[in-house]
Amino acid sequence: MDEKRSKLAVYPGSFDPLTNGHVDIIERGARLFDRIVVAILVNGEKNPLFGSGERKEIAVDVFGGFSNVEVETFDGLLVDYAARKEADVIVRGLRAISDFEYEMQMALMNRRLNRMIETVFMMPDERYTYLSSRLVKEVYALGGTITGLVPEIVEARLASKIQRGG
Ligand code: PNS
Repeated sequence: MDEKRSKLAVYPGSFDPLTNGHVDIIERGARLFDRIVVAILVNGEKNPLFGSGERKEIAVDVFGGFSNVEVETFDGLLVDYAARKEADVIVRGLRAISDFEYEMQMALMNRRLNRMIETVFMMPDERYTYLSSRLVKEVYALGGTITGLVPEIVEARLASKIQRGG
């Protein structure tokens, strides 16, 4: 392997919406790798709250100041996308043991599909270990406070999407 080649990581996910847990992992990845691409899955969830274009806009807004963070959307198999990008690594965040089984399945399936791409797990700051996009949407919709859990732009966009009850 060419040791001088820059290391490219892909950080895939639904990001519906981006949370501060995701932001934390992306910042860690940007320190560890030469470049990191935030790869937003287009046709994942059946009814995403945010369209893929909007999820991309949000990530671009948050990471505009980072020279080595890029944001893209992707469709189809993650390993095929990563191979097209000539990525070395897939980054995933691990919050708790409960994430482990699903993440191990994906990592090993992805390895079976393409043994050249390694999955690297990173732990977010412990402040975010309980945080998920699903909980953010639910808490917000029911009138709870999500300040500090998502970037400001996400909170503003949620306000225009969700009629709050509670
Ligand atoms: O944020 P999420 O929803 O946990 O991300 C899941 C994601 C996007 C990483 C996963 O669903 C994925 O890679 N989808 C692309 C299709 C694919 O490659 N599936 C096989 C995975 S082993």
